[in-house]
Amino acid sequence: MRPRFTALKGVADVLPPETSLWRKIENAAAGVMGAYGYDEIIPPVIEQTGLFLRSIGDSSDIVAKEMYTFTDKGGRSVSLRPEGTASIVRAYVEHNLPVRPAPQKFFYFGPMFRYERPQKGRQRQFYQLGAECFGIADPGVDAEMITMLLTLLDRIGLKGLSLELNSIGCKECRPAFKERLKGFFGPHLNELCPDCQRRHEQNPLRILDCKVERCIEIRKNAPLISETLCQDCKDHFSGLLGYLDAMGAAYVLNPHMVRGLDYYTRTVFEVKGGAGLGAQNAVAAGGRYDLLVSEFGGPDTPAIGFAMGMERLAGLLQGEAAVPGPVLFIASMGKEAAVEALRMAARLRDGGTRVELGWGGSLKSQLRRADKINAGNVVIIGEEELMSGRFKWKDMRDGSSGEGGREDIFKQFSQAK
Ligand code: HAM
Repeated sequence: MRPRFTALKGVADVLPPETSLWRKIENAAAGVMGAYGYDEIIPPVIEQTGLFLRSIGDSSDIVAKEMYTFTDKGGRSVSLRPEGTASIVRAYVEHNLPVRPAPQKFFYFGPMFRYERPQKGRQRQFYQLGAECFGIADPGVDAEMITMLLTLLDRIGLKGLSLELNSIGCKECRPAFKERLKGFFGPHLNELCPDCQRRHEQNPLRILDCKVERCIEIRKNAPLISETLCQDCKDHFSGLLGYLDAMGAAYVLNPHMVRGLDYYTRTVFEVKGGAGLGAQNAVAAGGRYDLLVSEFGGPDTPAIGFAMGMERLAGLLQGEAAVPGPVLFIASMGKEAAVEALRMAARLRDGGTRVELGWGGSLKSQLRRADKINAGNVVIIGEEELMSGRFKWKDMRDGSSGEGGREDIFKQFSQAK
């Protein structure tokens, strides 16, 4: 028996026509982000495990449960990246990029790996399109980045999304909030799920992000971070809201949002999609991480970023996926005609025209194939056409036809006009 392989659970092939949708999203992102001054960065997909422990945090679900971590042949603990930010910050410090003029702005695209329970919109390998901006603390940069994200989502054609915002404070005001949370959850410790009992000790903020029903119930009356923000954090947040109002950006304040990664300070945000996405409805998310560069040995450098999930974006656009049919289909009868067809196609393809060839079989079966693949036009090359050097073409959509020599064919169908 021959083995029959299938893709791993939670790891999907992206097939045409969906790939064309992905390409459309990538192109839109490169265009919009380029206009905002972002250049592409391509970090590796594998890193030292410690990088993620120190940035995402060992109290986070990602690090505690979801990392693809293994020991390599040299005995080092390495991990497939569960997200992009940690690698970009590592690269930023490692290559001494802080010496370049601020702001330094990067975008990236690639696969991320989290060992989660697969469901609609949640995979173990998924792609993120992300952006990171280093070096400016002004809340205007938060607004600029959010505006870029909203512009991009609009350019991709996504409507009806909602932007949620919160501030989760800084190293000055968050410790007091954590103490308040500890105090609040203390009497309920035995009712919390085992994970939250651990979180209560390690990082009580994580309890606010737990998905277990009874933890959600208990935290309904938990204190809000907005009540304990220091003046600088309050000013930063109201500064951001002022900029967004001035830009006419719609947002919803979500005082409960804490995000699942430990590195955030101050601004956090999520863009949520419609019902089409099911429970996993965040299409993009991000926030400030003003301490991470210095945590990794770089100079004090404020930073902010976001990442969008490609599968979720493409999921919302799915109805639009389509592979374009060829502009021209050349059917040919006999060897000599096939050579002529190949030459004609090569010249047109050189100019970017999508051309398909009939390749053998009866004329009838070739034309049937042209129809099946939605060819825009058909040319038939037989003995007569070879002798006369004159070719007829037919437009399959409106039934119109034309006739001419090789140059006319080229003029008629070349995209490189
Ligand atoms: P995140 O919220 O963990 O943030 O992920 C960002 C986006 O990636 C999510 O909103 C979602 O669209 C997508 N995503 C996450 N997990 C999965 C999954 N298992 N399957 C499919 N899609 C998924 C980050 O990763 C941060 N690095 C964002 C950031 C950049 N913050 C600052 N800079």
